[in-house]
Amino acid sequence: MLKVFNHQSLGSFNTLAIPAEAEYFCRLTDVNQIPELLSQAKTLNRPVRVLGGGSNLILSERVHALVTKVELTGSSVQSEDEDSVLLKVHAGENWHDFVQSCVNQGYFGLENLALIPGTVGASPVQNIGAYGVEVGSCIEQVDAVDLTSGRRVSFKRNECQFAYRDSYFKQHENRYLITAVQFRLSKRFDPVLSYGPLVDLQNEPALTAQDVFDRVVSIRCEKLPDPTQIPNAGSFFKNPIVNESQHNELLKEFPNLVSFAHHGDYKLAAGWLIDQAGFKGKSNQYSVGCYSKQALVIINPEHAPYSAVNEWVGEVGQAVFGKFGVTLEPEPRHWK
Ligand code: EPU
Repeated sequence: MLKVFNHQSLGSFNTLAIPAEAEYFCRLTDVNQIPELLSQAKTLNRPVRVLGGGSNLILSERVHALVTKVELTGSSVQSEDEDSVLLKVHAGENWHDFVQSCVNQGYFGLENLALIPGTVGASPVQNIGAYGVEVGSCIEQVDAVDLTSGRRVSFKRNECQFAYRDSYFKQHENRYLITAVQFRLSKRFDPVLSYGPLVDLQNEPALTAQDVFDRVVSIRCEKLPDPTQIPNAGSFFKNPIVNESQHNELLKEFPNLVSFAHHGDYKLAAGWLIDQAGFKGKSNQYSVGCYSKQALVIINPEHAPYSAVNEWVGEVGQAVFGKFGVTLEPEPRHWK
């Protein structure tokens, strides 16, 4: 039986700590509740919004929807051989705990993605990535329910259209409720150490996945604020991608531009753009600001409302556009 609440506060369900409420709210603890979820949404005449860890959300004061917090838990080995294991993990599992359990069991590939806030079910949506690894590379299948038809559907990796912070699920926002993700992980540790602050680990003679995991955790703790201490949603903007001629123009004017080659184009470091526009460590009258150690992270220490956060986002975006002619695209999804 699905219990639907009216006027549920979402303040503690979004890591930016924006005070907001869901018109209707329920917890999904069993996939068999999904037909009832859909019929409730129909009766209430509201769309379903799928909530995971709330770490990639920007909320309006009132969310006109039936918000369902996915609390499907558990994981199992689907198959394994000498080289790899196929793990099916339910969507409500905590991402970081899952990554730690993989390292403990000798299942490798996700260790660079330690400490990313959120749930397993959210991980394919924006194809979470950090320190040279994107989750899509380890995903074999995504199991979901199509909220428009109520049908169970499965997507193989090549159907997920994974790209930089992008996927089929992000392109079809709010259409699917991801119930489980199946990961193909290696039993042979083959570390990815290309990212600057991990490079020196290449010289460690007996490097383990736990060492990589620990290093990633320490880098993240140094640069990124803990959302339970200082509310934030991680990188607020995607790193913008420009073509070669735009890149050359920018380099002429800004020789110190921080950029990386990206499939024939260039990815610009949005943190650098924001920093250069003078916003690092700055905030508005509501204390909404850009974190002092990583300008790309917007912080909301006083739990200011949507309007205050949105005002700051607009100001930062305009300043960066004014200085560099580059548009910043927010990473978090906006729920109205
Ligand atoms: N930089 C500055 N000033 C700043 C911030 C950054 O000059 O205030 C410059 C530095 O030169 C730095 C470069 O920008 O070397 C890149 O910064 P960083 O290594 O912190 O990475 P990022 O591009 O800002 C991306 C992801 C992060 C991920 C890191 C590490 C995006 C939008 N963000 O950040 O992901 O952890 O790389 O791989 O792609 C997230 O998505 O929430 C997230 C934290």
